Amino acid sequence: MKFFIDTANLDQIREANDLGILDGVTTNPSLMAKEGIRGEENINKHYVDICNIVEGDVSAEVIATDLDGMIREGEKLTTLHPQIVVKIPMIKEGVKAIRYLNSKGIKTNCTLVFSAGQAILAAKAGATYVSPFIGRLDDISTEGVELIGQIVDIYRYYDFDTQVLAASIRHTMHIVQCAEVGADVVTCPLDPILGLLKHPLTDIGLEKFLADHNKK
Ligand code: E4P
Repeated sequence: MKFFIDTANLDQIREANDLGILDGVTTNPSLMAKEGIRGEENINKHYVDICNIVEGDVSAEVIATDLDGMIREGEKLTTLHPQIVVKIPMIKEGVKAIRYLNSKGIKTNCTLVFSAGQAILAAKAGATYVSPFIGRLDDISTEGVELIGQIVDIYRYYDFDTQVLAASIRHTMHIVQCAEVGADVVTCPLDPILGLLKHPLTDIGLEKFLADHNKK
């Protein structure tokens, strides 16, 4: 399972990358705005800064919602850096844009996916990644992780190449649950990733080992 970090915060990206387990980054317009990155020039520069920190895929989201606009933006984003993956929303024109960009050899991440039907369309269009938002489903009393398992099963059944990228991860258990159902990628904020490190018995055990070692 690949680990992506879901942030536009450069310090957090560096911290996750320094752990040596980071495979990529996802961003979205809200995450860019949260870091105060505004205007096309600044946003594009920020994508390049992110690509210069990590080695893997970096998702950059289009703002246009019409087919020509999404294609134009997508093609421009890919000129920024070879690691850029174009993030396209799951709408009718988005499916067409994914199909077109895929035919040009451009990697895509189909975002804002909330059902297995949408995930089937993304795979048929040739998306590199599909991003089901599990936390937002949990927010409306629907089991988000179940959707991940359902999509993984369907993709395996038909041997689709599209990778299931579990998004909108809110806590450490989401990561473990996504691993249990076979997600290809999890994208999460830094805290849930660091949360995987924690166990009180590790802390107690280490304290005792060190104390015993230091006994006179
Ligand atoms: C995915 O790529 C999105 O950027 C993200 O995971 C959305 O998460 P949220 O629901 O916490 O905003």
